[in-house]
Amino acid sequence: MLRLPSPHSFDKIPTPFYYYDMGLLGETLDTLSAMAEKYCIKVHYAMKANYEGKIMRKIAERGFGADCVTANEAEWAVKNGFVPGKLMFAGVGKTDDEIRRCLLLGIGAFNCESIQELQVIDSIAGEMGLRARVGIRMNPNVDAHTHRYITTGLEENKFGIETYAIDSLVSTLKTCRNVDFTGLHFHVGSQILDSIEEVFRLTCERAGEIVKAFEDRGLEVGSIDLGGGLGVLYADPDSALVPDFEKWFSTIDKYLRRRPEQVVRVEPGRSVVAQCGSLISRVLYVKPARTKTFLILDAGMNDLIRPALYGAFHLIENLSAGFRGEEVMQDYDVVGPVCESDDVWGNNRELPLSLRGDLMAIRSAGAYGSTMSSRYNLRDLAKAVFSDEI
Ligand code: LLP
Repeated sequence: MLRLPSPHSFDKIPTPFYYYDMGLLGETLDTLSAMAEKYCIKVHYAMKANYEGKIMRKIAERGFGADCVTANEAEWAVKNGFVPGKLMFAGVGKTDDEIRRCLLLGIGAFNCESIQELQVIDSIAGEMGLRARVGIRMNPNVDAHTHRYITTGLEENKFGIETYAIDSLVSTLKTCRNVDFTGLHFHVGSQILDSIEEVFRLTCERAGEIVKAFEDRGLEVGSIDLGGGLGVLYADPDSALVPDFEKWFSTIDKYLRRRPEQVVRVEPGRSVVAQCGSLISRVLYVKPARTKTFLILDAGMNDLIRPALYGAFHLIENLSAGFRGEEVMQDYDVVGPVCESDDVWGNNRELPLSLRGDLMAIRSAGAYGSTMSSRYNLRDLAKAVFSDEI
């Protein structure tokens, strides 16, 4: 059951809203910091998962860097306490304007995803009289065994540069006059959970081979960035509120060949923020149908699109029934109010007897929740509420 300061904490807050357990975020960051230190791995938070200012500032306080995919994200990171030199800028489609803005900001490195992009960064840096630090994102062709929409490291995906292009890539890098090559970047996918050891072993082995190919061609690889991807337990969040960072980092430690001076980086997003966030909603209507009963909530797919987009499972809890000590259980199809048939939170969910006005928590919504929300149906955006402010 969701941890709350008191059963009445939410009584006066208009729903739907995102609730963030800042204590849990702190515990997660404590573990992540300890593991980063133990395994000597640098952390760059993938801010696409959640860029609430207050959450960003709390992460930045730990001295972590950030992984950004737009110049807007990079500038927002700096506004919220991240050091520009610790920002990585990835993405297959960086615009000229974004490249200029990030050069001016003094970001740590562009993670470059095509040979043409490398040439464009070189020429823009030349025009501006600046030097660009550039890492190259390689496509290691490793299957992350996750949802196909969040698999990124296979040849069929648009991300990174395939290994067959290493020769032309290295010769282009050698002709770039305004670029300092910093290292290599990989990211094979997201929500990697059951097969974490196998996926990261393969990624590390492939990364080792690719690093060697670059170094054999005379380019020193100073930094190896393995991206993000550690998954979280959506089905039973309370059994693993803080994800198993040690399993991820120890797998990297075991399988990645690294020289002592080589920097190893990761870019976790989901694992840092997913479990500290819940989408809080109220039951608007209990609607019996011939074969089922619908619970209609005031939160919809525009607030959290993961179930509609990926068929993702999020645990639903009836907080009010929990406080009432309700014992009768019933199956419900829990749905949102948006005018789309896939605006469904879950079919056949067994929940305590639920009434109009009951408070519901949709758990594990801290990552890719608010950042992927929209105003579809001209609905208002759900506000953020923090545990240390109520
Ligand atoms: N680094 C790069 C280059 C990435 O593309 C991503 C995520 C990450 C790091 C962070 O990955 P994480 O640790 O969060 O798995 N909207 C989807 C997830 C999309 C992930 C995109 N890239 C979802 O809701 O499941």
